[in-house]
Amino acid sequence: MAEPNGRDKNGANGSTQVIAPRAARTDIAHFVDNPDLPNIIELKHVHKTYDGGKTWTIQDLNLVVDAPPENGRFICILGKSGCGKSTMLRYIAHLDSPTSGEILINGKPRGPHTRVGMVFQRYSNFHWYSAVKNVALPLLYQGVPKNEAYDRAMAMLEAVGLAEHAHKYAGDFELSGGQQQRVAIARSLISNPKILLLDEPFGALDGVTRHDMRILLAKLWETMRCTIVFVTHEEKEAVFLGDEVWVMAPRPGRIVGRHLICLRYPRDFETMKKPYFMDKVAELQQQLLDTVQQAAREAAEEQKQPASGVVPQNEPVAMEAAPESAAVVSETASTPPT
Ligand SMILES: Nc1ncnc2c1ncn2[C@@H]1O[C@H](COP(=O)(O)OP(=O)(O)O)[C@@H](O)[C@H]1O
Ligand SMILES: [Mg+2]
Repeated sequence: MAEPNGRDKNGANGSTQVIAPRAARTDIAHFVDNPDLPNIIELKHVHKTYDGGKTWTIQDLNLVVDAPPENGRFICILGKSGCGKSTMLRYIAHLDSPTSGEILINGKPRGPHTRVGMVFQRYSNFHWYSAVKNVALPLLYQGVPKNEAYDRAMAMLEAVGLAEHAHKYAGDFELSGGQQQRVAIARSLISNPKILLLDEPFGALDGVTRHDMRILLAKLWETMRCTIVFVTHEEKEAVFLGDEVWVMAPRPGRIVGRHLICLRYPRDFETMKKPYFMDKVAELQQQLLDTVQQAAREAAEEQKQPASGVVPQNEPVAMEAAPESAAVVSETASTPPT
């Protein structure tokens, strides 16, 4: 596979023509991890192109999630739609691979057996099974005896407030959107994953249900203490849930900011009234707006610029040369007779 700098994995110039991306604009020194804490998730110099390097969907994306042992972190990734948030989550979950770059889980390259739970925005339950069977499925696949699997699934449904709906079908006919997402969260937590990835899981829910779900998730996290990576495009959601918020910029997708959120858990309605909460939301809104405006400016610049090496006709061209490299030659030989 070709690297974005036009070299193959061994450093030799490959035959595949890949255009080098623009120089990375993110100072990754800003995102250096804490050496005293173990790294749970690391993304190093991740690049993605879908068109052989003409454009870069993700460029030099770097992220380190570290956490005290058995403590976990609640990381929110905040970015506008299309900046590459879902793509990044798929890489962590080993559902997809970047063009180049490294993804480490607990210090080792991720693999198909890395235990990571995932909840998607679209309801992903098996609607022809009951809620409790949906939650028990991962355990049944692992070979856990049926009685034990169902007991644990019932306990998990109770934790997400859905015990009384355990025997309903897990699709649209018998459960609301919020209830379906509770089933999905319970299923993702049943095998005690060390990492839980959530891709805008409450995006399709109404405002009140969404708020209830955020409170539920923050509460579950306090007891489970796995590391959560939660993707959202809403600043308020990010500040309400996260103990860290990472901001992504579009065109190309990359991390441009990391914010620690110093608000105590459990978080509730009162949390959102605190001046600190409102200030943080405003700060993130501003940073997000800056990234979008910068991307728009760059897109406009790129449209104005001609393809490299082509000089538009009738345009003056400025040229510079070092005096020491200039030589005086006789013009007589090349000057046509007048
Ligand atoms: N298979 C694909 N081919 C071409 N472009 C893709 C493909 N998958 C995703 N993209 C592009 O990558 C960008 C990032 O997508 P995505 O990660 O879904 O963004 P987000 O989750 O932030 O909304 C988008 O511009 C999308 O169009
Ligand atoms: Mg997405």
